[in-house]
Amino acid sequence: MSAAAGGKATSAPLMGRDPEPALFEFSAPGRTAAHLRRTDTPGWTAEELVPAEHLRVEPANIAEVSERDLVAHFTRLTHRQFSVDLGAYPLGSCTMKYNPKLCDDAASLDGLAGVHPAAPAALTQGWLELLHNLEAVLCAVTGMHAATLQPPAGAAGELTGLLLMRAWHDDHGGGTGAARPRTRVLIPDSAHGTNPASVTLGGYEVTQVPSDHRGLVDVAALRARLDDDVAGIMLTNPNTLGLFEEDIVEIARAVHEVGALLYYDGANLNAILGVTRPGDMGFDIVHLNLHKTFAVPHGGGGPGAGPVAVTERLAAYLPGPRPAANGGDGGRDGGQWEWTTPERSIGRVHSWHGNALALARAYSYILANGGDGLRRVAEGAVLNANWLRHQLRGHYDIPYDRPNMHEFVASTASLKRRNGLRALDVAKRLLEEGFHAPTVYFPLIVEEALMIEPTETESPQTLRALADSLIKIAAETGALARTAPRTTPVGRVDETRAARQLIPTWDASSRP
Ligand SMILES: Cc1ncc(COP(=O)(O)O)c(C=O)c1O
Repeated sequence: MSAAAGGKATSAPLMGRDPEPALFEFSAPGRTAAHLRRTDTPGWTAEELVPAEHLRVEPANIAEVSERDLVAHFTRLTHRQFSVDLGAYPLGSCTMKYNPKLCDDAASLDGLAGVHPAAPAALTQGWLELLHNLEAVLCAVTGMHAATLQPPAGAAGELTGLLLMRAWHDDHGGGTGAARPRTRVLIPDSAHGTNPASVTLGGYEVTQVPSDHRGLVDVAALRARLDDDVAGIMLTNPNTLGLFEEDIVEIARAVHEVGALLYYDGANLNAILGVTRPGDMGFDIVHLNLHKTFAVPHGGGGPGAGPVAVTERLAAYLPGPRPAANGGDGGRDGGQWEWTTPERSIGRVHSWHGNALALARAYSYILANGGDGLRRVAEGAVLNANWLRHQLRGHYDIPYDRPNMHEFVASTASLKRRNGLRALDVAKRLLEEGFHAPTVYFPLIVEEALMIEPTETESPQTLRALADSLIKIAAETGALARTAPRTTPVGRVDETRAARQLIPTWDASSRP
């Protein structure tokens, strides 16, 4: 397929129209996809069921289309997308792994999906038991004492964790008996952007800690920034370079010595599942990204789940309500499951019980894998990422070329100087090869960064093909790659305009 003018590539031969027609363009008055039979049964007419003041006066301005056009439209749209179900998606730090369909099935069970969130505990004993068991298993995996399942994403978990940190310090006079509240939270310079944003939202100031030549937290620089004004430190381990923080025990000791707390950003927990635990490293508060570590599709804005687990001394501050057994071991022992709120709770952080079906999906993934299976997830992820790093040696810069965990960071810094190839060009070119792009330009401390996370779910054949494509692209010139992608429904877009002049609504007058 050849490139079309104006940066638009020829679309896949689905409709032959580009841009894809909006659903309104198939619309005709009176056309419908649903055929609801009218009933004359007394008491069951729309007028009788819906109070007069809630009945529409004007028809809604929605597309009137047949089922056939509706299905074809959305099916065509799905074909214009790249997805985890289509091929490898090595988006570093995001863990876009293939999710077993079994977990979708489990979360779709009527007894789970068909329950109203306001249904009373007496009618939702199974749900409460599931949530209670999930809390318990997440605590076992992280080495924590108690958890909340409410936060709907990693960033929401971070804010929850910082509010817990604040509540704990408020109750403990700053942790060292200091009279004034602590004001600062430490964050390494390799951290994900949500970390400093959450610190600011949580009412603290960010103090940055530099990384050393190994790509790890510079412990001397950390010590120099520690005093009784520090409320805590936020770390992810392995860090965003995919490297395990080898000095974590020393870091934890130093942070605790000044009465501060350690927050674990669990976005990279899939690298250590079943091998080691944040609790064993000295962390006090942990968030998990269920939509990365366990089977909950990530991307497209959710729904995700970012539970937060804490050590015993912080349990009383957790958001509520939480599921608890009232008399015996819940339902099994003749007792009842009920909702309780911890005594010093910071309150709710989400309506109802979080993204409940995302939680059910994660629970089914955990049960399907079992403890040994989860460990194999981590081992496979680490093995695949190390294999790929070795393949790319000599073709790309590998700024921290040492054993990595589930992901690693390559760079096109030398290629850019030699033939103009930038990280962005590699990302776009890779789409033509049938792979999603890796994360680019993150972490910020690496020039022209390509952050690659193959995950444990890709086969050796797929990894070989991905490595071959990346190696082939490295040998090309930046000028060639700059016109990519040429084979996708949408070609290279103006990234600035796409972000700043987004037009999310359809305007009938804009069509010829
Ligand atoms: C290291 C790290 N921390 C935190 C987050 C935030 O998670 P979420 O996107 O669920 O808010 C991400 C997301 O990619 C991440 O990579």
